[in-house]
Amino acid sequence: MKLLMLGINLSLMLLCYVFTTHQISWLSALFFLSFLSVSPFFFTYWLVPGGFAWRNHHFSSPNLRGPIGWPLLGTLPSMGPLAHRNLATMAASLGATRLMKFSLGATRVIISSHPDTAKEILSGTAFLDRPVKDSARSLMFERAIGFAPSGTYWRHLRRIAASHMFSPRRISRLEPLHQQIVDFMLVQVRLEMETKGFVNLRGILQKGSLTNIIETVFGSCLSSEMADELGLMVKEGYELITMFNLEDHFPLRFLDFNGVKRRCHKLSSKVRSVVGRIVKGRRKALSINGGNDFLAALLTLPKEDQLSDSDMIAVLWEMIFRGVDTVAILLEWIMARMVMHQDIQAKVQEEIDALIDHRSDRCVRDSDIPNLTYLQAVVKEVLRMHPPGPLLSWARLTIHDVHVGKSFIPAGTTAMVNMWAITHDPSIWKDPWTFRPKRFLEDDVSIMGSDLRLAPFGSGRRVCPGKALGLATVQLWLAQLLHHFKWLPVTATEQVDLSETLRLSLEMKKPLTCRVVPQRAQHAA
Ligand code: HEM
Repeated sequence: MKLLMLGINLSLMLLCYVFTTHQISWLSALFFLSFLSVSPFFFTYWLVPGGFAWRNHHFSSPNLRGPIGWPLLGTLPSMGPLAHRNLATMAASLGATRLMKFSLGATRVIISSHPDTAKEILSGTAFLDRPVKDSARSLMFERAIGFAPSGTYWRHLRRIAASHMFSPRRISRLEPLHQQIVDFMLVQVRLEMETKGFVNLRGILQKGSLTNIIETVFGSCLSSEMADELGLMVKEGYELITMFNLEDHFPLRFLDFNGVKRRCHKLSSKVRSVVGRIVKGRRKALSINGGNDFLAALLTLPKEDQLSDSDMIAVLWEMIFRGVDTVAILLEWIMARMVMHQDIQAKVQEEIDALIDHRSDRCVRDSDIPNLTYLQAVVKEVLRMHPPGPLLSWARLTIHDVHVGKSFIPAGTTAMVNMWAITHDPSIWKDPWTFRPKRFLEDDVSIMGSDLRLAPFGSGRRVCPGKALGLATVQLWLAQLLHHFKWLPVTATEQVDLSETLRLSLEMKKPLTCRVVPQRAQHAA
């Protein structure tokens, strides 16, 4: 009712303004008056809390608050590189941290910025699907774990991945590969320092991460040209999936405004051809010599579990796609914090040195990580302050009508969790803006999805299946990087730039550059 009154008032004000400031003909006046007579209803149609996409559901959840947003666009203009911050500010200012509704074009969305409602969404069976962007569909992700609808096929894929890609046994068998790659990264770091006088860590981490995931998935049989080609394909895929696409938010599927569709089709044919060739090659070789990688496991599944070639390609492609950036981005944030907080870096190094004699040849191993509690606390604190998926990367979709708290949420609503807002909420975290790893020694918060105050890998049945592998890789590489070098700003006065930009993950806007000094002269690669 309030909104209808507002609409009528706005129309009358407009009417007075036009008649007093313009000389208009009778015909125009008639047209204008008829427009004004319907305008209150037009205003009421989109001037509803949550905006245009909630127009038909406004009365079924009247207590749910949300921004009205722009006509037709809704809150789309706020969804740029700082969407997580914009949405957090909106929710706080509307008193809607538990749950806020908003519109992205014609897409109805809810977002939780509170652990209780986040748990309801992430663990609720009504939220087991994901909304699929057009680009994700054409890049075959609908046939892989991340976007497959939550039925038998998705469960089958998760089971295969849990046994053959992410099991504890398999992660421990990957240690030699992780060590070999970090050794290579240490050589690169030293080389850059010697040749340039500073280190640009992003390139080194990305290359290491790409080699790591390619060898985990395909084994060591790929040529470096093939690996580079896969790297370029992942890069193109990232760009396409991050690009804003009007067609995702309006029923305009037949259009291709910025060429995303065309580029996705081109890329997916390339993926089919390149990954298809790798699969074919391995299938021939497998009878002679097996392997310890994910592809070998897929090719030797019992007959009843086997995937078709096109599904296998989609799953392998997804693993490469998901495994590259997450690890590299998280490590870059951690190293940025280490360069900024020299005292904290020194403490981690002391902890490692206490475990491994400086004079010995031994390097840090996976089995040392449980004893490096301060190092683990540093990783947690970075995940809290710079979660790689501040909006948990991929959203969820309601399969059927459901209630979150007391609010009614209709089927087909996109549901997000603002993990960044939760991890920066002063009512949940003391001094949330201060980098203080010690907080995790005082209060042992699990980051694996059971405690929604800090769930950077999501939670519930769609929780990240790669969390243990990702974490094991990050912790080992971090320990090795800190064991071998002291990391410093490029100049004594230079500040690390912590500006962020949200693409598929939350990245540092400016790549980290720093200097290193060898800690262990005899072993530094
Ligand atoms: C630092 C490392 C990582 C972070 C922070 C991370 C974060 C996430 C998050 C937030 C989700 C959504 C979970 C949800 O909806 O509840 C997710 C899903 C997923 N992640 Fe990760 N991830 C990481 C590493 C990896 C790695 C290394 C892989 C594979 C090689 C991987 C594969 C996946 C897949 C396949 C899904 C979709 C699961 C499904 O829908 O069933 N992730 N990840």
